[in-house]
Amino acid sequence: MKITLKIWRQPGASSEGALHTYELDGVSQDMSFLEMLDLLNEQLLVSDEEPVAFDSDCREGICGTCSLMINGQAHGPEVTTTCQLHMRSFSDGDTITVEPWRADSFPVVKDLIVDRSAFDRIIQSGGYISADTGSAPEANSVPAPRDKAQRAFNVATCIGCGACVAACPNGSASLFLGAKITHLGELPQGQPERYGRVASMVAQHDHEGFGGCTNIGECASACPKEIPLDVISQLNKDLRTAMFKGF
Ligand code: SF4
Ligand code: FES
Repeated sequence: MKITLKIWRQPGASSEGALHTYELDGVSQDMSFLEMLDLLNEQLLVSDEEPVAFDSDCREGICGTCSLMINGQAHGPEVTTTCQLHMRSFSDGDTITVEPWRADSFPVVKDLIVDRSAFDRIIQSGGYISADTGSAPEANSVPAPRDKAQRAFNVATCIGCGACVAACPNGSASLFLGAKITHLGELPQGQPERYGRVASMVAQHDHEGFGGCTNIGECASACPKEIPLDVISQLNKDLRTAMFKGF
């Protein structure tokens, strides 16, 4: 396939950025989107041009680093991560626009790379859970209802990619935050610090400049791990209880 790429180039955090156009030939439908960008970078290096900076790590849909806006959609046209998106989702002759996440709380570092350390600070603000150390406890000594264990497992699949923030017109991280709150809040081990944790994490979320949720739902549509919107209800419910308890 032959495609035209319009890629956001920005030399550094405080520099001006702009879309640059590249023509790329020899793209296979079996390539992943990142392999296609690798091909572009090989050609840029051959012609002595600066390669496009973009993030990736596992390339298996696990780590959440490969975060790109593709034709205005977080991770592109499929419900998956950018590394798991394949060029068969595009056609010969297509023009594809590639940009970094657009959110004030994720400032651009260079080209397509953004700083998502705000997510790390939110998780860090959640602190630790109280758990006895020593040998592993007997498996049945802390019973967890199956439905709650399953829900905790499902929301624990959030990979912290930030697509929910990039897709939200308010730049809210409520889906991410709801996933983290629900993950521990459903399990017995997460109960001792449950309400202090939600108060602290919401305060950090707001401090980082993420917006509020107004129930638009773009976050859940863009989420590659299909985290359900109702984790935000859980988040709000736990936050209300935390406020009544004086946290
Ligand atoms: S909730 Fe979904 S979109 Fe948001 S960070 Fe987690 S995996 Fe990514
Ligand atoms: S590179 Fe790890 S999820 Fe895409």
